[in-house]
Amino acid sequence: MATSRALVMVVFMLTVAFHSSVVNATFPKSMYFNWGAHHSSILGKGDDLRLVLDQTSGSGIQSKRAFLFGSLEMLIKLVPGNSAGTVTAYYLSSTGAKHDEIDFEFLGNSTGEPYTVHTNIFTQGQGNREQQFQLWFDPTADYHNYTIHWNPNAVVWYVDSIPIRVFRNYQSEGIGYPNQQGMRVYSSLWNADNWATRGGLVKIDWTAAPFEAYYRRFRARACKWNGPVSISQCTIPTRAQCLETPPKYMGHRRARSEVVTLPDDISFDSDHELVLFTIMKIFCIRIRANRQSTALSMERKMRYITELERKVQTLQTEATYLSAKLTLYRKTKSLLSSTISDSERRAHAITALYKSRNYPTYRGTTTTPIEFGEATIEHYVHNQ
Ligand SMILES: *[C@@H]1O[C@H](CO)[C@@H](O)[C@H](O)[C@H]1NC(C)=O
Ligand SMILES: *[C@@H]1O[C@H](CO)[C@@H](O)[C@H](O)[C@H]1NC(C)=O
Repeated sequence: MATSRALVMVVFMLTVAFHSSVVNATFPKSMYFNWGAHHSSILGKGDDLRLVLDQTSGSGIQSKRAFLFGSLEMLIKLVPGNSAGTVTAYYLSSTGAKHDEIDFEFLGNSTGEPYTVHTNIFTQGQGNREQQFQLWFDPTADYHNYTIHWNPNAVVWYVDSIPIRVFRNYQSEGIGYPNQQGMRVYSSLWNADNWATRGGLVKIDWTAAPFEAYYRRFRARACKWNGPVSISQCTIPTRAQCLETPPKYMGHRRARSEVVTLPDDISFDSDHELVLFTIMKIFCIRIRANRQSTALSMERKMRYITELERKVQTLQTEATYLSAKLTLYRKTKSLLSSTISDSERRAHAITALYKSRNYPTYRGTTTTPIEFGEATIEHYVHNQ
């Protein structure tokens, strides 16, 4: 099961990788104040933030973008001292009557008493799924990592990388699951002394105000919500998405090193789901392999063509050389053949001279034809 779970996680990581981008922007880039901006502030280079609650109001921020699936990570240092009656919330939420919501709420307490971590999840407007936890450290002494990990199969609440709660997708059993609506990321600090501490018994001590919570290093490794089209885009890798996969996800060996481990109690609910995800993985790997081999064979073909072109050029040069040689041969041949016919004519002429025995005199002497010399023969040939 461990191997197949790893396989499935690879697929999920691939899935999210296609569309997600790490929003590691600073607070001003990725978020804005939706409440109490007058007394809250962004600090330093924009990676730090302070929310304030006093008698005038609480305060809050929200992300500019909505997401569907991903890892939403925030470092928080909670209100110290007497924080009874205050609530610091870090949550995802969509809007509308049938909204989805995934919550971390930190319920303050009197000095020295432990904070309570209150978690909840709403699907299509339905909540009532609270679970509470006590932390194993003082959350006011330093920043701690609160991460909501949300994929098509499960929602996991992490505190310092320790999963404290898992909400699995049991849609097949008729239980709602947040997978149809993009959610924005919110955080707020507010007065909840009608219920937060000991069920509302302990009220806010305003003499301890202003109450301040500190935030740092918001990260959203998440699939951006662009409307309903994102429902399939953020879930299933299509052919195009496979092709867009960055090189680091190429091939088996690299993919295996991208395996992310989830806590042991996350399992996939049905063999069907597992098979589906495995098939998608194989599908993607095949497309990638095909693309690679196409690229490879293209390169081979190009190299072959270049080779052929070079050969053709060599042959052309050779052909030019040969045809020049041929022309030369032809010229030589015609020269030779005219020389031969010339010689034949001379032989004829000599034979004719012999036959006529009419030896001409040359410079007053009777001579043999061999001694006639050029001029006489030429004269004779032309007069035949
Ligand atoms: C916060 O926790 C998440 C979930 O375990 C982890 O992926 C992330 O790397 C952590 N971030 C920091 C800064 O430790
Ligand atoms: C506050 O401290 C009391 C006493 O330890 C504890 O019972 C309670 O759960 C704590 N948290 C809240 C939110 O009341």
